[in-house]
Amino acid sequence: MVRQIQAKFRSLFKDEPILVRSPGRVNLIGEHTDYNEGFVLPAAVDKAIYFAVAPKKGAVGSLHAFDLDQSHEFEIARPVRSDKGWPNYLMGVVDQLGKAGAAVGGFACVFGGDIPIGSGMSSSAAIEAGLAFSLNRIFSLGLDPLKLVKLAQKAENEFVGVRCGIMDQFINIFGRPRSVLKLDCRSLDHQYFPFERADLRIVLCDTLVKRELAASEYNVRRAQCEAGVKILAKHAPGLLSLRDVSLELLEAQRSEFDPIIYKRCDYVVHENLRVEEACSDLKKGDFTAFGRRMNGSHDGLRDDYQVSCRELDVLVEAAGDVPGVLGARMMGAGFGGCTINLVEETAIEALKEGVVKSYKDIFGREPKIYISSLRSGTDIIKI
Ligand code: GLA
Repeated sequence: MVRQIQAKFRSLFKDEPILVRSPGRVNLIGEHTDYNEGFVLPAAVDKAIYFAVAPKKGAVGSLHAFDLDQSHEFEIARPVRSDKGWPNYLMGVVDQLGKAGAAVGGFACVFGGDIPIGSGMSSSAAIEAGLAFSLNRIFSLGLDPLKLVKLAQKAENEFVGVRCGIMDQFINIFGRPRSVLKLDCRSLDHQYFPFERADLRIVLCDTLVKRELAASEYNVRRAQCEAGVKILAKHAPGLLSLRDVSLELLEAQRSEFDPIIYKRCDYVVHENLRVEEACSDLKKGDFTAFGRRMNGSHDGLRDDYQVSCRELDVLVEAAGDVPGVLGARMMGAGFGGCTINLVEETAIEALKEGVVKSYKDIFGREPKIYISSLRSGTDIIKI
């Protein structure tokens, strides 16, 4: 794939680009906690977006989406939102670099990859952080990795208009092979845990449901969490986010809450606890207990946070019936995309059969199945 992208760049721009690999991500547990300043446990994976990028004379950015075979040009000093959609993820980065006073000149970029779009594996963060990394290189901007993460997140918040948290861009830049990363989304302290047991695999089952509700409902969930914080802050001065909330505090103020807002907050408080507990399980090498926390996370996302959908629930239920599946839950923002399953290698075939059958019986089509391996974050490729 990366060679095809390099060849396309050479034929379009008659120049030698740098090549960059920017990975998708999985999240083992800790969903919808990042924007509540809580904890997450993601990892970078083998599926990725590849970039070929080089400076170009003039003050124009020339973008080419390899998979769509579409091009887009824009003025570096004045990126304007495009109806095509995809250029916004890239122009948003240039916009942020401009606001940060970085000296970005004209450039050419061809990109493409194999992260399924809308699958909850964060192709958007891979595009944003991958371009931020590439431009930092070709223009020697001297931005540190954390700065790139924040800039890529802001590009999505301000230019694309989704108020996403920091998880996806962070793991994109900071991922390490064979490891998951526990991130404290308030302090940004992070810790790597080896995530390897020879007989275990991470399997993703893709509903192939387009996540139409994801962006609008995502912003609604954020607002609901903020509404909960507002109520609780009256009783606990200094309380800034759901990260600061204990189950006892929440329970004590229940009568002041609209029931929906209460459910949302209750999920987030529990999910933060689950991430902490799952990390203790990992330290003990207890993957069975870890899997049970994943199941608990799904129950909360389905019943209390209400960001699942029937297709995701069917895949999770079918996986739960297969011996050797230690845990299963929906992954990412929700309303479609993938489930993530922790599976004993000997159970993979049974899992595939089980989920395909249940899914086909109900929806008349098959889900897609990917076996993921954990890889490094965004980096230069030498070929
Ligand atoms: C999306 C966002 C992340 C995070 C997840 C849900 O992937 O980009 O910041 O909020 O949803 O956990």
